[in-house]
Amino acid sequence: MLNSHTVLTGLFGHPVGHSLSPVMHNRAFNVCGLNYRYAAFDIQPERVGSAVDAIRALGIRGVNVTVPHKISVIPYLDEIDEEAALIGAVNTIVNENGRLVGYNTDGRGYVRSLVEESGINVRKQSAVMIGAGGGARGVAVALLQAGLPSLVIVNRSVDKAKQLAEDIKHVNPSSVVHTVVPGDIPDVIKESTLLIQTTSVGMHPNVLETPLAPELLHEGMLVSDLVYNPLQTKLLQEAHNRGARTHGGLGMLIYQGALSFEYWTGIKAPVDEMRAAAMKELEKRS
Ligand code: ATR
Repeated sequence: MLNSHTVLTGLFGHPVGHSLSPVMHNRAFNVCGLNYRYAAFDIQPERVGSAVDAIRALGIRGVNVTVPHKISVIPYLDEIDEEAALIGAVNTIVNENGRLVGYNTDGRGYVRSLVEESGINVRKQSAVMIGAGGGARGVAVALLQAGLPSLVIVNRSVDKAKQLAEDIKHVNPSSVVHTVVPGDIPDVIKESTLLIQTTSVGMHPNVLETPLAPELLHEGMLVSDLVYNPLQTKLLQEAHNRGARTHGGLGMLIYQGALSFEYWTGIKAPVDEMRAAAMKELEKRS
């Protein structure tokens, strides 16, 4: 029951109407018997500063931050965790008695999902990552922190790939990070064991799009797509058809949320319940 002791959390984004986070977090609070609630706040870009101030003023315990505010919230916070600073974006704010600390759980959420759902050892993979945007940055930093030895970044805009490689090459001094132009993808993919698709290619409504020719996929690799709508992208279908193992994007959403939940509540997130709530909501919409 919502009462005078209810602790409020939520989401800052624009738009937020499509977000699965409210059902996921409210289910988690519910099954854990916590008097917490999670609401979605549609924040206009020019109001980000006042919205962050409202966290302090209203005693909100914390919020998730999504597109387009992940970078613009940073100047309004009191402290940024080292990983979030490295990624250059915040997706979780924790209110510690009026002091707002920014974290980024996207990349760690991705790695946790990848490892738990596929069972691979990140330390033994040779990875190719398609894309160099915000999602790619979080994933790349977390993979390097988890001990990925080799990462090749490929992006439509080559300069952005180079900039990302430059920014993250010091994260793990024993890892090799480099970039190739899209034309060189065939050669690097042959040698790789993990392909990570971080762009919006293949996302609803463009479900027939795929970022690369299916002949390049091979059975020695795990193909991971950050897109979760649809759950099975064209890329993942093609990977499956060619004997590759696959990993979809829903797990990243679940685990980034689970990590945020753990920051706010201090207790272990009920990951299976969160996944079930998100799946049910997706099914309702399809
Ligand atoms: P996000 O935060 O979701 O990663 P972003 O920062 O806008 O979003 O980055 C989008 C990524 O998807 C970029 O790598 C972008 O490539 P460019 O840097 O060349 O723009 C990539 N992307 C988006 N649409 C694409 C398309 N149709 N083909 C290839 N890459 C695409």
